[in-house]
Amino acid sequence: MDIKKINEIKAQMDYERTRNSHPEGFPKLPEIPGKRYTDKTLYDLEIENIFLKSWLMIFREDEVPNPGDYKMFNKLGREILIVRQNDYSLKAFYNTCQHRGAPVVRDEKGNTKMLRCQYHSWAYDLSGNLVKVPDMRDFKDFDPNCKKLKQAHCDTWGGWVYISLSQDDPGSLIDFLNPVAHELECFNSSELITVYKKSVTVKANWKTCLDAFMEVYHAPTIHKDTVNILLDGSAMAAGLLKNGHSRMVTPKKINLDGGFLGAENADYVPYIETCDKIHAETNVAYGMFPNFITPTDTSGYPAILFWPKGLRETEFEWIQIAPKWPGDKKPDYWREQEISFDLIMEEDFKNLEPMQISHDSGVFESMPLNYQERRIYYYHQMIDDWIGRENIPKDIQVPNVLDPFIEA
Ligand code: FES
Ligand SMILES: [Fe+2]
Repeated sequence: MDIKKINEIKAQMDYERTRNSHPEGFPKLPEIPGKRYTDKTLYDLEIENIFLKSWLMIFREDEVPNPGDYKMFNKLGREILIVRQNDYSLKAFYNTCQHRGAPVVRDEKGNTKMLRCQYHSWAYDLSGNLVKVPDMRDFKDFDPNCKKLKQAHCDTWGGWVYISLSQDDPGSLIDFLNPVAHELECFNSSELITVYKKSVTVKANWKTCLDAFMEVYHAPTIHKDTVNILLDGSAMAAGLLKNGHSRMVTPKKINLDGGFLGAENADYVPYIETCDKIHAETNVAYGMFPNFITPTDTSGYPAILFWPKGLRETEFEWIQIAPKWPGDKKPDYWREQEISFDLIMEEDFKNLEPMQISHDSGVFESMPLNYQERRIYYYHQMIDDWIGRENIPKDIQVPNVLDPFIEA
């Protein structure tokens, strides 16, 4: 992050800590309609217009390191095959055979020279070209060149694999990720390795889940003995960034380079020397539209992904990455950090399912968001920007009021 931005954020934290009234010039936010968490029409619009169009981070490149390695992405009701090419680039294909539409690959991951459909043995090379068709003589005027596997957009950034299922050009990945990608450069993400990966499904709308990761207003209650001991929410500086992304910088109450309570005395504490001052001294969390949250730390960062599985069901996936440690054995530090992080996640999960039940009560009309909750408003506003307000029932729309507050 450049020094000018760091100084601006520091000044903002001082301002937030000392102000004793609502910030002048910042508007009262329109209330978010409660039905946005229970309405099937809106949910379908979100899947169609956002999740099936936007760039989505799906997993680490190190899951498919070698030519011929493949791995399935099977969320959002789609099966997309990510295949490492002979030139080490990646391609993404719909797992749909161009004969009669059987899935080409049935395994979650593997390595192969050829993608061979199990139904009638049509075979595709790693680039998706149809190269073998049994009993070719029985197909009249048939051109195999017209029957390539259908591709999805695929790109990488910082060792992460991204896809977009848009039928149109989704635009450049890096343009979409910036300025967050730029601010995360100091982590040298491509050099980091996967420490662990987990998944938990929670019975709540994906926005109920995501909302909980967009503010620290709930830290003194939901995370009384964890996050709240570490962070000073009163000085949190939120930043609304272009493309629906956002930043939350929260000063630490205790400065722990180890990242979590109890890690101070560990034999090995990972530390990314290249981290900017702001990432080293404070807790910087990012929200990347539409479904990726990361609270960064000098030890590395977890990518927390929110995958809608239904109107009232969300899969949380989190992938912790960090510098490679000396030796083969995973350090105790990471075993303890995992327990500590799981505990914080669990505190949130326990809160989410009851919230969905409450949202479904029929009496939850709308939610008034305060100034420090404005990141929640911002991504709801962005959801409606992507869908187009003309396509959303009037009573559940969120007007665009925050554009003037997006950081230049
Ligand atoms: S459906 Fe794949 S070969 Fe027939
Ligand atoms: Fe939380």
